[in-house]
Amino acid sequence: MAHESSPIPLRPVGGGVAQQARPHDDAPYRLFIATSLALAVFGGFLLAVVLPLAQALELSWGTDWLALVQVHGQLQLLGFAGLFVIGMSFRLMPRFSGRTLASPELVRPLLACVALSLVMRAIAQPWASGTARDAVLLGSAALLLAGSLAFASIILRTLAHPASRAEATGWYFCLGAVAYVGQAALNAAIIVEMVRRDGEVAPYAKDQALVFVQLFGFLMLFLSGVATRAIPALTGNARSNAASKVAASMLAAFVAAYAAAAIWAAYRSATVTTARVEDAALLGVAATFVTVVWLAGVFRPRANRVAAASQIQFHFVRAACGWLLVAAALLAWYAGTALADGGIIDSYEADAVRHTLTVGVVTMMIVGMALLVVPEFAGRRLQHPREGGIVILLLVALNGAVVLRVWPALRGIDWVASSRYWPMAAAGVLAILAIAGFALMLVQSNLEQRRPGWASNAARTQRRPHP
Ligand code: HEM
Repeated sequence: MAHESSPIPLRPVGGGVAQQARPHDDAPYRLFIATSLALAVFGGFLLAVVLPLAQALELSWGTDWLALVQVHGQLQLLGFAGLFVIGMSFRLMPRFSGRTLASPELVRPLLACVALSLVMRAIAQPWASGTARDAVLLGSAALLLAGSLAFASIILRTLAHPASRAEATGWYFCLGAVAYVGQAALNAAIIVEMVRRDGEVAPYAKDQALVFVQLFGFLMLFLSGVATRAIPALTGNARSNAASKVAASMLAAFVAAYAAAAIWAAYRSATVTTARVEDAALLGVAATFVTVVWLAGVFRPRANRVAAASQIQFHFVRAACGWLLVAAALLAWYAGTALADGGIIDSYEADAVRHTLTVGVVTMMIVGMALLVVPEFAGRRLQHPREGGIVILLLVALNGAVVLRVWPALRGIDWVASSRYWPMAAAGVLAILAIAGFALMLVQSNLEQRRPGWASNAARTQRRPHP
């Protein structure tokens, strides 16, 4: 039963009862998850339907379309995925580090800063004009910077402390938090330039560097940290702490090398050297992704000691690792070819890798790990033991969304007609339905579990004979 409700090693490493994190260490993860899902359903994923539809129907939105693409990217990376990851990491950190969260009073202001920053940007960038727009955009950048400093301070002061037992996971999280501050600083520089030039759209090369740091630096470091710790715990495989530390350092070093070259190329001049550094760094990132999947051990034959009631949910984790291998293969192929040609990967290739990672790995992992470790879902498996069909439907919808979203990008310049946006719009519909369904299940379970005596009712439901 204990294992069923918490399949992750939620106790501090080696911890006895005295060392266990106290319940008040639970940061308000529900607030983070609720904000993340609200920004996803009413923001990022809604735009994932509207933006491809606008192109497929050949509506001429001009630069508004490009501004909304950037808004979609920020809402998805920092809002949906970012806040979910931050909320869950705050919940898990005290358990695996054996330390209470440093500066818990910063947790709620951090959430408010990041969420407000994203909403302000989403409104001001495409819709507002004049000094009001400039003030809101600058305010949004300042809030993100403040939120990032609060986030890094909590992570570093909790995990980079000599008493922390977070081991390699601490490395991933600390390096990811540094990347989070880096992206907020770069974002501020880009916003200041947009305001100075009165531009509606962030300059392309700088925006691409920003998106890279957010996805590869922050999100992939955190998700790799969770994958290399939680998956072996679920499957019963041994964890390799030393190899995992090497993987965390490699990923951070390759991301830093790519970001430095991309920022140099964007702000100074793009040369053959910057292109070579970018391509070589991407090859390194691809190799690290393979290492992370190997360390997670999800495809090792004996890795199937997951609790029977969690087997279907664990398919999301397997799918996420599968898509991570696909992303690694695409990245290696594109970067290898670009290196041979002396150029950099093109925008279709970047888009294919980006959405394999964001939909296939990040979204899949968020849904899968939430189904496995969020308390509401652990309780739900007792309350609704026979809803495996719905979970499989979610899984099929998300995998379908990855295929439909990435397919036109894989065709590249062979499919530039506006019809390339139809499969993307279909992908957006599948993804928003899956995320909205997932959010509704969470809300339903939360409401059900507030009722007194829900656990004994759930136990009765379990004992009822199968019709
Ligand atoms: C199936 C769901 C999704 C659809 C249909 C979709 C659609 C799109 C489209 C049409 C673009 C513009 C591509 C272009 O310039 O031609 C785009 C860009 C982007 N998307 Fe998505 N997307 C989806 C999911 C996601 C998710 C889950 C994330 C992140 C977690 C994400 C992050 C991004 C980013 C970072 C960009 C680039 C933004 C920029 O250039 O600043 N997308 N997406």
